[in-house]
Amino acid sequence: MKNLLIYGTLTGNTENVAQQIKTLVEESAKELEIKNINQTSIADISAVENLLIVASSTWDDGLPCSDMADFLEESAQDLPDLAGKKLAFFGCGDSNYVQFCKAVDILEETFTKKGGEKICNSLKIDGYVEDEGNQEKIKNFAKEITQSL
Ligand SMILES: Cc1cc2nc3c(=O)[nH]c(=O)nc-3n(C[C@H](O)[C@H](O)[C@H](O)COP(=O)(O)O)c2cc1C
Repeated sequence: MKNLLIYGTLTGNTENVAQQIKTLVEESAKELEIKNINQTSIADISAVENLLIVASSTWDDGLPCSDMADFLEESAQDLPDLAGKKLAFFGCGDSNYVQFCKAVDILEETFTKKGGEKICNSLKIDGYVEDEGNQEKIKNFAKEITQSL
């Protein structure tokens, strides 16, 4: 598996963004597999050859959504060495909350510790995914991802 995007979502917004990114990347004839974190194993992450994108929405005063929080709790210590791998991060949140998109920062810290290189600024979606500003940000993020492949 060359390129993998894993995401955690509670109400589907981060999944929606993941699917948009997959479509945009694949329009450029590049491959990107996407997987819900509740169906992702450490073996899936170990199988990544090039790029790993990790995403989660933020809930409960700055925590990753429950599926991502469960995965990190159970498996963070088993993550493979990611040296030489490209990394990118995004998530949905709402800036009315003090800990805006804090889960994205937690993911960055957890995964970059394993040696991978972040290839672009993380994407933090504020509010409705379909808002024009967010759609523009998603397109730019997908463009940066595509260019790195
Ligand atoms: C009870 C509750 C707590 C939330 N806490 C946060 C938070 O601490 N930080 C943040 O950025 N967004 C917070 N949000 C907003 C969600 O992250 C946002 O609705 C997001 O789009 C959900 O994405 P998902 O559908 O992928 O889970 C909260 C929303 C609710 C309803």
